[in-house]
Amino acid sequence: MKNQYSILPEFSNINGIHIDIARERDIERIGVLSKKLIEVGLLNWVWNPQKVAEQIHNQDSLVLVAREEQELIAFVITEFKKNTANLVLLGVSSNYQRLGIGSRLVKILEQSAAALSLTSIKLEVRSENRSARTFYKKLGYKEVRVIRGYYSNHEDAIQMTHRLSYEPATFSSQ
Ligand SMILES: CC(C)(COP(=O)(O)OP(=O)(O)OC[C@H]1O[C@@H](n2cnc3c(N)ncnc32)[C@H](O)[C@@H]1OP(=O)(O)O)[C@@H](O)C(=O)NCCC(=O)NCCS
Repeated sequence: MKNQYSILPEFSNINGIHIDIARERDIERIGVLSKKLIEVGLLNWVWNPQKVAEQIHNQDSLVLVAREEQELIAFVITEFKKNTANLVLLGVSSNYQRLGIGSRLVKILEQSAAALSLTSIKLEVRSENRSARTFYKKLGYKEVRVIRGYYSNHEDAIQMTHRLSYEPATFSSQ
């Protein structure tokens, strides 16, 4: 696997919110946000700081964060497989939702996956998480199957996928 950090599209600012690669100092905060925003009500804390740290150190994973000044307000974890990128975890802090930050993070990971010649993005979302299912559908993701008891044998997952399309490069001689 190529080093995905070297081919990331240019990071951007959305109204003072800066998108960046996650650092060691972000590990704890990502774990806490995961527990609060995504794993709420589940028996085990799967995305605890140790698991987040493994992803940050994994050459085949990409962990992006959004910050306002020094405060980490959103994150996305993606694992790059042979043909597919697995969007593992995405969270935007409650006060910053509906500002386009989640969409921007997903677009950046899609561009990174496309640059690695991957063909699709896959993810699992809690079946009861209607807002996230609506969010991903808005971004063109399709619900493909239900995985029974995926979350601690307690809740089903909906698997969603998105095919990446490639714009042919255009060159000008001028
Ligand atoms: C789901 C989540 C990542 C969306 O991030 P976000 O930055 O708020 O989303 P965006 O602002 O980019 O939203 C883009 C579009 O998605 C849809 N959408 C987003 N949140 C929605 C909600 N709560 N209800 C309905 N539609 C929603 C809307 O169509 C929205 O466009 P609009 O605001 O112009 O109507 C965020 O709400 C979140 O972190 N939720 C808790 C954690 C979670 O569920 N993570 C996903 C599973 S891992």
